[in-house]
Amino acid sequence: MTATFPIQPAARFAGQSEPVKRPKEFACFSYDKDHQYHPGDSSLKWYYPPTLGTDLSNGFEKFIKHDDSADEHLDSLLKTIETHEKKTNKQIDAHIVTWRGILTKIMAAPFEDRDGFEMNATFYRNSIFIEENHKCKEASRREQDNQTWKSPIPQEVMQFWGYKFETLSTLPATWGETSRDYIEKRDNEIVNNKEQYCSVVRTGLGKSIICLGGEVDAIWDSKPKVQGAPVNWVELKTSAEIRSDRDMDNFERKLMKFWIQSFLLGVPKIIVGFRSRDGILVKLQEMETNSIPTTVQRRGRAGWDGNTCINFASAFLEWLREVMTDEGVFRVRRKPRSSHIEVFQVEEVGHGNIITDEFMNWRIKL
Ligand code: A3P
Ligand code: MG
Ligand code: MG
Repeated sequence: MTATFPIQPAARFAGQSEPVKRPKEFACFSYDKDHQYHPGDSSLKWYYPPTLGTDLSNGFEKFIKHDDSADEHLDSLLKTIETHEKKTNKQIDAHIVTWRGILTKIMAAPFEDRDGFEMNATFYRNSIFIEENHKCKEASRREQDNQTWKSPIPQEVMQFWGYKFETLSTLPATWGETSRDYIEKRDNEIVNNKEQYCSVVRTGLGKSIICLGGEVDAIWDSKPKVQGAPVNWVELKTSAEIRSDRDMDNFERKLMKFWIQSFLLGVPKIIVGFRSRDGILVKLQEMETNSIPTTVQRRGRAGWDGNTCINFASAFLEWLREVMTDEGVFRVRRKPRSSHIEVFQVEEVGHGNIITDEFMNWRIKL
C-alpha cells in the first residue's frame, strides 16, 4: 500500500512558521585525508579570507577526490550517536535521525521539483532513520554526466572550484597557530574532499525532534566551551558573478538551498565566493543565514519562501511518523516534477542496511 503526502498546493504551508528549535551540536566526528572516521574535531578548519584573483582551477590535476560510489548509509552518524549514548547511558530522544542533505531535499520540495528523490527509511526504537537510496543516486549521477553541458569548461572542473574555494579559504588551525608560509601558499595546497568535519546536532521542526549530521566547512573563531552554545560556523559557497538581473534571479533561487543547508545545522554565516565564468575568484560576500529569506522576499523574484519550507517539512515529518510505526524498510520517493511524496513498504521485516549491526548490538544493551 502506498501512502501519499501532497506537496502542492504549497500555499497551504505559507504564513507564520511552526516552532523551530535552535540546532545544538552534541557530538561531532571527522574524516581524515583518507576518509577514515575519527570521533572528534580533528578535521575542523578555520576560515581565513582567500586571495581575490586566484584561479580556482589551479591544482585540478592533483585533486584527491572522494569516490562516492560506495554506499556509506548512516554508518558514521550511527557510530557517533552510539559513542554519545555510551557516555550518557541513554538513548537520544530524536523522532527522526538522518543526514542534513536528506532533510534539505525534503524542505526544498515545495519549490524544487526538477530532480525528485528516493530515500529508504526504517522505524527502530522510537526513531525513524532515513538514508539516501544510493542506487537511485548513482543512476541520476550517471544521467547528469551524460548531459551535454553548455559551458566549454568540463563539469568536473566546475565542481572542483567549490572544493578549491574551501581549501583557499581555510586554515587547519587558528591564524595564530598557522605559519605565514602556509597562509601565503594556500594556492599550492592539494585539494582533498575526503577530509571533512561533521557536526551532529539536535534540532526540531514543529512537533518533531530531529538528530542531524552534516558537514561544516569552517569556524570563524573558536568553539565555545559550553556544549550546545551557538557556534560561529561558516559555510563556504561559490557562485557565478552577478552581471544582470537574470543572474540575480538565478542566484536568489540558489540561495534557497544555501539557506536550508545552513539553517538546519545552525550555521549563522555563509561566505560566497563569486567567480568569473572561467573560474577566477573575483569577489567575496558575507551573508547572514537568518536574513536570507527576508532579503529574497523583499526583491520578490526568487519564487521561494522560508516559512513554507519549514511548515511543509514539519507537516510531512509529522505525517511520516504516523505512517511508519512498524518495522521493515520503507521507500520515500518523490518522482521528478511530481506534486506528491509517496511512501511504501519495500521490506516487511528488519531494517535493511540502514541500521548497522554494531548500532543494534549497542541499543540492545541499553
Ligand atoms: P559549491 O557549493 O561552492 O559549488 P558544500 O558547499 O555543500 O560544502 O559542497 C562543497 C562543494 O562540493 C560544492 O561547492 C560543489 O563543488 C560540490 N558539490 C556539493 N554538492 C554537489 C552536488 N550535488 N553536485 C555536484 N557538486 C556538488
Ligand atoms: Mg562543505
Ligand atoms: Mg560549502
